[in-house]
Amino acid sequence: MKKWERILFGGDYNPNQWPREIWKEDMRLFKKAGINSATVNVFSWAKLQPSEEIYDFSELDAIIEMLSRENYDIVLATSTAALPAWMVKRYPEVARTDFNGIHHKFGERHNACPNSPIYQKYSRALAGKLAERYGNNSHISCWHVNNEYGGICYCENCEKAFRVWLRKKYKTLEALNKAWNTEFWGHTIYDWDEIVVPNALGDGFGDDKTAFAGLSIDYCRFNSDSILENFKAERDAIREFDKETPITTNLMGTYKQLDYFKWAKEMDVVSWDNYPANDTLWSLTAMRNDLMRGLKGKPFMLMEQTPSQQNWKPYNSLKRPGQMRAQSYQTLAHGSNTIQFFQLRRSIGGCEKFHGAVIAHAGTENTRVFRETAQLGKELQLLSPYVLKTVNQAQVGVLFDWENYWAIEYTSGPHKDLRYVDQIHSYYEYFYDRNISVDMIPADADFSRYKIIAAPLLYMVREGMAPALEKFVREGGILLTGFMSGIVDQSDNVHLGGYPGPLRKLAGVWVEEIDALAPDQANTIVFEDGCESSCGMLCDIMHLEGAQCLARYGSDFYKDTPAVTKNKYGKGYVYYIGTVPEKSGLYRILDQAVSEASVEAPFRDSLLEITCRKSEKEELWFLINFRPEPQPLPECFAGKEDLLSGKTVLIGDTLSQYEVRIIRSPL
Ligand code: GLA
Ligand code: ZN
Repeated sequence: MKKWERILFGGDYNPNQWPREIWKEDMRLFKKAGINSATVNVFSWAKLQPSEEIYDFSELDAIIEMLSRENYDIVLATSTAALPAWMVKRYPEVARTDFNGIHHKFGERHNACPNSPIYQKYSRALAGKLAERYGNNSHISCWHVNNEYGGICYCENCEKAFRVWLRKKYKTLEALNKAWNTEFWGHTIYDWDEIVVPNALGDGFGDDKTAFAGLSIDYCRFNSDSILENFKAERDAIREFDKETPITTNLMGTYKQLDYFKWAKEMDVVSWDNYPANDTLWSLTAMRNDLMRGLKGKPFMLMEQTPSQQNWKPYNSLKRPGQMRAQSYQTLAHGSNTIQFFQLRRSIGGCEKFHGAVIAHAGTENTRVFRETAQLGKELQLLSPYVLKTVNQAQVGVLFDWENYWAIEYTSGPHKDLRYVDQIHSYYEYFYDRNISVDMIPADADFSRYKIIAAPLLYMVREGMAPALEKFVREGGILLTGFMSGIVDQSDNVHLGGYPGPLRKLAGVWVEEIDALAPDQANTIVFEDGCESSCGMLCDIMHLEGAQCLARYGSDFYKDTPAVTKNKYGKGYVYYIGTVPEKSGLYRILDQAVSEASVEAPFRDSLLEITCRKSEKEELWFLINFRPEPQPLPECFAGKEDLLSGKTVLIGDTLSQYEVRIIRSPL
């Protein structure tokens, strides 16, 4: 597989939207900004295939020829993420049907039915033709299939394909009826053709839920698989002509609808688009980066970020001076090997004309955004040889599981505000605040590499999951879990015999009831030493079955019953946190677990974000200040070299907001 020799720095480039005299100017400005890479051909299907019979690559030939001549690393997209108008007109089936049963017309993008044979045929054909034409061009560094795959289709083609998928999964209708518990409301299915996709005209229940979560979850699995088949078809078409170049598609962090762990197995390299809002916590952005690294356990690509502002948020504030640079270094720190923008030149019309770009409508290099980009470009040139040799390592794994994500969010009750990503993030945030590196890991990860596994909200415990966790703890690991865990099997049917079902022995507790608190209600947890923290949302009411109690509820009819417990199991421990404590309470519990597990946390008290990438020979420490107040550099870095400034770090140095140091430390 081809390897890149430099940090790719550039982004989405749409010269097709501009007259050719602008292209020349682009080349001049890109060089000036240190840009070495361009992602092209993302939305050009209608131009490449103006009608069913005709293909026309003349403009793309010219673009690729220019970028090759100028020695860019080209990220070549396949253009299949927006349907051409002629195709929808001739074959209405290529468009999607939504949850309300409405079949869509031509328009928008990310709009193809994944199970349309026509879409499958022509998207695959286009990818193949592109690979045949450009696959042996050594300047093409990466294939970018489609764009931000996502969404769900509920059309008749999907319904038919869903039945086939279910048949393969369940073999018999008896098994299917059992899995969906169709005896409830007398929804027994007697013929595969009776199965209806989840939608508002059928089993719809609320905005996008159904009365049968088992059906909804299966549809999520099916939809994720269907779209993955689209990706694989294009990938395989490319591979027929190009055996060498890595193939990716740009993912979207914690996006709900696609099981990215499953997807990553089919991708050569993970890439993603990072669009935090101005009020997104930096810890959440860090978590998404770590998740993208975790998908393959390897460095990834940042395919898109805005150099300045978005256009699609309610309030599209500018990135403040230094903020784009700090965000870029955060991305590198958490495992990216590229920094790419959407987009290089701001468009003249369409709904993204107010979206930030490296080159603004003024069209010159005399802008703040251009200058900041150029500074970063220069720095990345210097950093490339160091960064590309290093990878991230962690002693803590945080479990992220798309099937649990779906199950939690398609289930009805007990609390409407329960959000999977928020809950996972509340644990991640603790480690982030303590500067403890985390790997975001799938349910089938090799747990033995970690000292701590955090698996909050492990609502769905599928076959094999409990034994793997038992083994991890038995051999000395520390498991963190808690409320709403161990409740259902893979079909959203409850594990009978008392919560947390298959985790009951491991946790040493029995949860008898789960109380739900409205946003304006709270309880407290009282630690053994009398310290108290507030808690809310959900409160497990539980009995100790071998576990030790760390904190009890402070009020209500379950006052003084256990809220937080710790159980010895084999050589390890399980912490069970039966409610949602406020930050200080959660942090107190997790501090105890971290010290018990002897997880290294040398910078736990620093308010900088401190992350390490390592090679066999050296460590690169990324220190970033995301806070408004200046923060001191930890003293242990004094005397070491900051790669960005070339200067030696001194005792007493501080970083102001968005300032960054990358400190090299030989091993
Ligand atoms: C997404 C898309 C891009 C562009 C940006 C704008 O990430 O992939 O084509 O629309 O959003 O933020
Ligand atoms: Zn469909």
